[in-house]
Formats: sequence, structure tokens, C-alpha cells
Amino acid sequence: MQRILITGANRGIGLELVRQCLARGGRVFASCRHPEEAADLQKLAEIAAPNLTLLALDVTDESSLDKARQQVGAQVEALDLLYNNAAINLGDESIADVTAQKLVETLRVNAIGPVLVAQRFYDLLRQGDSPKLINISSEAGSISRMRHFRGYGYYGSKAALNMYTHCLSMDPDLKGVTVIALHPGWVRTDMGGPMASLSPQESVKKILNIVDRLTLQDTGKFYTYTGGEYPW
Ligand SMILES: NC(=O)c1ccc[n+]([C@@H]2O[C@H](COP(=O)([O-])OP(=O)(O)OC[C@H]3O[C@@H](n4cnc5c(N)ncnc54)[C@H](OP(=O)(O)O)[C@@H]3O)[C@@H](O)[C@H]2O)c1
Repeated sequence: MQRILITGANRGIGLELVRQCLARGGRVFASCRHPEEAADLQKLAEIAAPNLTLLALDVTDESSLDKARQQVGAQVEALDLLYNNAAINLGDESIADVTAQKLVETLRVNAIGPVLVAQRFYDLLRQGDSPKLINISSEAGSISRMRHFRGYGYYGSKAALNMYTHCLSMDPDLKGVTVIALHPGWVRTDMGGPMASLSPQESVKKILNIVDRLTLQDTGKFYTYTGGEYPW
């Protein structure tokens, strides 16, 4: 039984990751900022307990990270999969609209948060069975593919996440853990909007197909949802 931790699990791609991981028989730790308000997760927990544990985790709040680490460590000896999925997109801004506060907030959630989550859980991952750390990134973080102006905050944060993914994949403290960045496609969520091309179900099915096939040979790569590598 795969032991799986997911951030940003109360809606969108994160919630669908929870659903599909449970359907495959996984032991899922679904984390979000406010589990007491996460109606969909609570309904799932009624059906899926004891395979689903809800955790309070804000990726920018170090005390919540410490508490979540203690809660997970009290229930399992190892993790096999960690999905760094939580992110924000405060909207495409022109140079005139850029504020330091919004740039920093986006970096804290989308790039620094995943590193801090990895920091809290890498020891459990190292004990896992073919352990994998999946950073849900975006094509928006690809420097080589950005060919026209789109904005600053979200794009810079995902490019930073891509570099942090590369760093994590080479870090000797994460030896044995396959670390990748993964673009989930354009998905109909609050972030992706109603015109996006993929449903969360379609995106997550493709994500799981890719993750199933990963080996240590893949560590440090940037994949897209269709299964190929994406240029950095
Ligand atoms: N949808 C797309 O088309 C698309 C495309 C490329 C990449 N992605 C990536 O896919 C991932 C999931 O996106 P989505 O479309 O599912 O977005 P979404 O529907 O907007 O969901 C974002 C999730 O992140 C959580 N979150 C935000 N700030 C957080 C924090 N500080 N700590 C913990 N959780 C936090 C949100 O929780 P709250 O409810 O508490 O705010 C929510 O659960 C993100 O990494 C996104 O960048 C999405």
C-alpha cells in the first residue's frame, strides 16, 4: 500500500489526486490549510477512513509543517510519494502592477513552500518503497518556452520551483528519492479556469501514469502530463 502525502488537497488537482490515490488503494495524508472547512475531503474521509487522514498544513507556516510532520510520523514509518501540489496564482501583472509583496507571497507558496515540505518529510521518504517527490510545476516555469510576455509572479515562482527540483534531485540527503517537476496540463480548476482543456480527472490519470513509471533514472527531470520531458 503506497503511503502518500499531498499538499493543497482540498480542491482542484490536489483533491482529485486524493480521490484517485484512494481508489487505487493508497494510504493518503491529505493536507490543506483549513481541513475543518474542506467539505469534499471530509466526505471522502467518512468513506475512506482509515486510509485517509486530513492534516492542517500551510506551506508558508513552519509550525504547521512541524505539526504535520509529527502527525504523519506518528501514523506511518515511511512515505512512498509526496506531491508538492499547493500553489497560488495572483494573476498576470504588468510591470506597472508588480509589487514586492505579491512577488514574495507567490515565491513563498509556490517555490519556498515545496522546499520546506521536502525538508520536513525527506527522512520519511528515504525510508519509503521506491520513493518519489513530485513537484507540481507548470509550463509557465519554462524559461526556454516562454516566447511572449505573460507576467511576473507566477512565472518566476515556477521557474524557481524548477531549479529547486533540480537541487533536490542532486542533494545527497535525498539519495534514493526520485525527484521530478511535472506540468499537469491546462486543467479546469479554480486556477486553470473553465476554458481549460483537461478535467482534473483526466490530468490526474495522466499524472499517475507518469509517476507509476518513474525510476531513479528519471530524477531531476521536468515532465509534462503527456509523458514526455518538457524543456526547462
Ligand atoms: N490548473 C491548471 O491549469 C494548472 C496548470 C499548470 C500548473 N498547475 C499547478 O497545479 C497545482 C494545482 O493547481 P490547481 O489548478 O488545482 O489550483 P487551485 O484549484 O487553485 O488549488 C490550489 C490549492 O493550493 C492550496 N494552497 C494555496 N496556498 C496554500 C498554502 N499557503 N498552503 C497550503 N495550500 C495552499 C489551495 O488551498 P486553499 O483552498 O486553502 O486556498 C488549493 O488547495 C499548482 O501547483 C498549480 O500551479 C495548474
